[in-house]
Amino acid sequence: VVISRLGRPRHNGRVDYQELLHDVMDTARRTPGRGRPADYIPALASADPEAFGVALATVDGEVYGAGDWERPFSIQSISKLFTLALALAEGGDDLWKRVGREPSGNPFNSLVQLETEHGIPRNPFINAGALVVTDRLLELSGDAAGAVREFLRAESGNELISTDDTVAASEARHGHRNAALAHFIASYGNLRNPVDSVLAHYYAHCAISASCRDLALVGRFLARHGLRADGSRLLTRSEAKRVNAVLLTCGTYDAAGEFAFRVGLPGKSGVGGGVLAVLPGRGAVCVWSPGLDTAGNSVLGVAALDALTTATGWSVF
Ligand code: DON
Repeated sequence: VVISRLGRPRHNGRVDYQELLHDVMDTARRTPGRGRPADYIPALASADPEAFGVALATVDGEVYGAGDWERPFSIQSISKLFTLALALAEGGDDLWKRVGREPSGNPFNSLVQLETEHGIPRNPFINAGALVVTDRLLELSGDAAGAVREFLRAESGNELISTDDTVAASEARHGHRNAALAHFIASYGNLRNPVDSVLAHYYAHCAISASCRDLALVGRFLARHGLRADGSRLLTRSEAKRVNAVLLTCGTYDAAGEFAFRVGLPGKSGVGGGVLAVLPGRGAVCVWSPGLDTAGNSVLGVAALDALTTATGWSVF
């Protein structure tokens, strides 16, 4: 019954966003099952399984939140969206010669397609593709993780955003699969920097801590078709459309079809339990809850986005 009043226009036809977010969380909490926090990296296994937050930032600068919306968490693969945007902004279309844009239909850390596809990863959001994009950004900027961190600070206005070194070190210690992917890609000549540098920058940008509030504010550049918070242009309108399209088709791994079906928005998830979704022309929403489904997406987070778009009709379709 709550869902029937979600997003109902309030005073002067305006949606009461604050009430909307509380209702969305209530609706999501009724989902059976909570999943489990990621435990393949020990530092992530200690995440609070009860944590749950939602934030919505509008293109004109308002920001709303509910629950644990200001609590920092490990952004993990959400960082892959920012490395892609920054690599495209600085280096343009050449990137697409080194990474594809098709859904992989395989888990995010899979190695299997790389051999038959000659070291060209399927898309920028599986680990293999993200390693190539990190390599490209390192080539262009000299500091891929630093570029991501500075971008997040500038777009959110939160100067405290930084890498959690414990998480990065934990990833490095348990990173056999990522190291295997990077070496395999390098064997095809698709990395320009030493494997160890690429891995270090990859772990460092995945291990950035930020809150739902921070990420919703950052996500506005895609809602604003490539315009940054200060009004300058990061991506052309066409590039922003392309990034949104790849987010929709590949941003939630082998569950991207299910995510599009339920939520109907471009979105990027991470194993820290965050999901950042874009409402083109309207704003960005970030949800966080560490319990994951088998594909690595936040159970409550996806349920909250599902409730939000079902109630409001704010999908891209
Ligand atoms: O490569 C890894 O294992 C992590 N640093 C990132 C994985 C991740 O977030 C995939 N997400 N669902």
